[in-house]
Amino acid sequence: MKMDILSVKDLEKHFGGVKAVDGCSISIEAGTVMGLIGPNGAGKTTMFNLISGFERGIGEIVFKGIRTDNLSPFKIARCGMVRTFQIPRALTKMTVSENLMLAPKTQLGERIWDVWLRPKRVREQEMQIREKSRDILEFFEISHLEDEYAGALSGGQKKLLEMARAMMIDPSMMLLDEPFAGVNPTLARKISRYICELHEDGMTFLVIEHDIPAITKISDRIVVMNEGKVMAEGEPAEIKRRRDVLEVYIGGEG
Ligand SMILES: Nc1ncnc2c1ncn2[C@@H]1O[C@H](COP(=O)(O)OP(=O)(O)O)[C@@H](O)[C@H]1O
Ligand SMILES: [Mg+2]
Repeated sequence: MKMDILSVKDLEKHFGGVKAVDGCSISIEAGTVMGLIGPNGAGKTTMFNLISGFERGIGEIVFKGIRTDNLSPFKIARCGMVRTFQIPRALTKMTVSENLMLAPKTQLGERIWDVWLRPKRVREQEMQIREKSRDILEFFEISHLEDEYAGALSGGQKKLLEMARAMMIDPSMMLLDEPFAGVNPTLARKISRYICELHEDGMTFLVIEHDIPAITKISDRIVVMNEGKVMAEGEPAEIKRRRDVLEVYIGGEG
């Protein structure tokens, strides 16, 4: 039976007089890739902030059967949902490998008393985390950047680092905010391939993207937002045929 991993009902967020998200409802089936498109200012990032707990709004969010609209980003991550940012937020003064090693601690909470009471277990855990971070860096083909400072990476490499760091907590769902924006075409193709491979392994994705051909290629379904509202939802082929979608895009992009 098909199951929704995430369902969002009547979500609302106002900034003063601006209705950034204005009564949006969407459901995402487990194991699928959902594309989220719409012109600049449509409310896509705000929607992400609400779903991932970085912003509070009105409405109901249920992730894996748990009401998450009152939870902190930290607790939502613990439930298995992680996100990346439109502008990557890696810790620039740490190396790539340190960024990954830190992720499970900050996301899952480090138990300080373990360090004194169970030093052997802590050491074993460190080893496991190190091994896992190496596997993940290998998957994203950035092992060679392991000892580079995150701040020294290119924009595209930072996007990979964000995805790699997110993978450290074994998420079941990833929210990616414009993973292809400002990334060179070769790297963009790679990112697209990584998403597809993770998808094949059962990961659920919600991906904001401006690049329509790129997003339609990887998505099972697409949601279109405009002026804070969901204006269309369906399979990529269906969305591509919608005149009104094309019109808001042409209008929005000049
Ligand atoms: N923190 C904020 N304070 C005030 N207005 C905001 C804030 N975040 C977003 N907005 C406004 O909300 C609307 C939606 O923005 P956003 O969610 O970033 O859109 P998108 O990601 O689709 O481009 C825009 O009009 C934007 O200016
Ligand atoms: Mg945005």
